[in-house]
Amino acid sequence: MVGKSRHNVRRRAVSATDPDGRGAAPWTMGAVDESLVLGIETSCDETGVGIVRGHTLLADAVASSVDEHARFGGVVPEVASRAHLEAMVPTIERACETAGIALSDVDALAVTCGPGLAGALMVGVAAAKALAIGLGKPLYGVNHLAAHVAVDQLEHGALPEPCLAMLVSGGHSSLLRVTDVTTGVDPLGATIDDAAGEAFDKVARLLGLPFPGGPHIDRAAREGDGLAIDFPRGLSGRRDLERHRFDFSFSGLKTAVARWVEARERSGEPVPVADVAASFQEAVCDVLTRKAVDAAASEGIEDILIGGGVAANSRLRVLAEERAAARGIRVRVPRPGLCTDNGAMVAALGAEMVARGRRPSALDLPADSSLPVTEVLV
Ligand code: KG4
Ligand code: ZN
Repeated sequence: MVGKSRHNVRRRAVSATDPDGRGAAPWTMGAVDESLVLGIETSCDETGVGIVRGHTLLADAVASSVDEHARFGGVVPEVASRAHLEAMVPTIERACETAGIALSDVDALAVTCGPGLAGALMVGVAAAKALAIGLGKPLYGVNHLAAHVAVDQLEHGALPEPCLAMLVSGGHSSLLRVTDVTTGVDPLGATIDDAAGEAFDKVARLLGLPFPGGPHIDRAAREGDGLAIDFPRGLSGRRDLERHRFDFSFSGLKTAVARWVEARERSGEPVPVADVAASFQEAVCDVLTRKAVDAAASEGIEDILIGGGVAANSRLRVLAEERAAARGIRVRVPRPGLCTDNGAMVAALGAEMVARGRRPSALDLPADSSLPVTEVLV
């Protein structure tokens, strides 16, 4: 049964011009395949199970263990792994119920196999393998970062190709040139220290705001003045731009905020949380949007896509729109619920793999905590 189904999909992937099935099958290019795909995401602290049919989202069930990590001020890998284990079956059941399907209706499975926390990834990969074997359906082990890009198809339709993707999350801040989200993405730049989301989380902690800090800073900043404090813009000086034009650095900014808050506390004055949050957020969003627009313009790309948890930031969305529009560049950002980790993004990338006739992964597919962004399908 397993062999038969996998063989069917393999056959679909092979064409005269693409004998190994890794390239695009010409007859599927641009078409929206209507296969029913279930995607599983467990790279960090969200157990996500999404179900899509082509570009249509049918279910997006997420169980988060974030509350269990809050008192530690960051995600504890072992706690996350155990929470995935407990949440996996109920989350799959909830997704199927929402989509109004039986597991046996699923045509293909997709799972995040990296990058992420090793133990957490293993739970999702093991679950996906079990389903693939039990149901006799093909399995696609995919890259978490590419899934953050692919998810936008569920909201705005087929991805523009090429597009410039800016992925900003708790673990990554990268600028990528995406010509085909199923075959490869070219990294143009990345953070050299903290990720953007990590900076939000650390600064929130300094300000006494709960974990994860991004949404709290976003909210606090609405009451503050983004120009109140002139925090540093990392890797933006003339010298830095020569070597790190499309790279980011947020650790100096985080330290600058810490020093500023400490000085305030030492002098016995109250810390203006809203102004610090707004000014910090302005510094992050200023650098991110400036570099993203610069990268798109220099690559001759007319579409920027923003993904990852920090893409939910309200100021980032407004500033990106403004700056891109001034250069004739369009911006696409999925709605906030699709920006943070979820299973729908994995299902979306899986559906694209099916639509483009890519060959499924082998069933001994490993979880790879440091999977490079250039490796979209394992
Ligand atoms: O993509 P994601 O859910 O998980 C990772 O792959 O890391 O991103 C989580 C990150 C956290 O650092 C969180 O603070 C940040 O996204 N985040 C935000 C906002 N919502 C979530 N950062 C800034 N503004 C937000 N509104
Ligand atoms: Zn993520």
